[in-house]
Amino acid sequence: MAQTFAFLLILLGAQFMASSFKICAFNIRNFGKAKAANRKVMGALVQILSRCDISAVQEVRDFKGSAIRVLLRQLNRYDHSHRYSYLESKRLGHGSYKEQNVFVYRMDLVTVTDWCQFGEEDSSPFKAFVRSPFAARFHSPVTAISDFVLLLHHASPRETAHELDLLFGVCMELVQRWKTQNLMVLGDLNASGAYIPASAWAGIRLRVHLDFHWLIGDKEDTTVSHWTCCAYDRIIVHGEELLRAVVARSAKPFNFTHALGLSEEEALEISDHYPVEVNLRLAPRVQREL
Ligand SMILES: *[C@@H]1O[C@H](CO)[C@@H](O)[C@H](O)[C@H]1NC(C)=O
Ligand SMILES: *[C@@H]1O[C@H](CO)[C@@H](O)[C@H](O)[C@H]1NC(C)=O
Repeated sequence: MAQTFAFLLILLGAQFMASSFKICAFNIRNFGKAKAANRKVMGALVQILSRCDISAVQEVRDFKGSAIRVLLRQLNRYDHSHRYSYLESKRLGHGSYKEQNVFVYRMDLVTVTDWCQFGEEDSSPFKAFVRSPFAARFHSPVTAISDFVLLLHHASPRETAHELDLLFGVCMELVQRWKTQNLMVLGDLNASGAYIPASAWAGIRLRVHLDFHWLIGDKEDTTVSHWTCCAYDRIIVHGEELLRAVVARSAKPFNFTHALGLSEEEALEISDHYPVEVNLRLAPRVQREL
């Protein structure tokens, strides 16, 4: 009897398991103590993040680190079908304004096997970044590609074009260092067609090099306010194997104003950015079990 029951539970669990693996990048504007104490905002955040297997969270601003721990605790309380963990960058930025990049991930489906930050040392060719790009290497037995690297970056608005070009160098360094082609660059790159002149695009290697595939196009709107229409947040894929693992046309902004039935004002309390997301196919073995 107990065995039958357990079997039924597994079947039920499989039904609730998604048919793909979702990765998002989400700039949660100024995520710190005030937001972590706001029930409405936190309720929305856990709904948004619990849709994703890995969330690359940006603009975490809390020098004690308690806001992100509160977020994780509430996420784990909200979604019992998975266990969430996180990997945070150092506090990034010149001067007193600091923020962190954080990977929030389902530890039952994916593990972090390595990570690094770029531009920390004085001698580094990547010292020009206002905030060091943060890379993590993931292993997941459930995805069609079991090893991949996510490179998370929040570009400085003053140095966007230069930083985008430098990210190309970071990618080449990662290819060498970790002996893999399969990289995804994601985050708030401030890379809006409206702000970067055509002449600047032509000099950005990340943009013109044929090995990089920009999955979020220039015409997308990743901003919440209806006054703005900018594709700040991007997902860029390098490596044929990883590109093949991406579910076609799955990359898009997630409009949580619409999905959660919020007013624009309520949505702006959560963030001024929508997450951008993309799905990876599951491993064939995993799909058969569904
Ligand atoms: C970055 O975005 C801001 C708006 O948030 C804009 O004013 C600025 O010109 C952008 N910078 C670049 C280099 O595109
Ligand atoms: C998001 O959804 C809201 C509510 O449906 C809509 O008014 C808004 O135009 C949408 N924004 C984008 C960028 O699609």
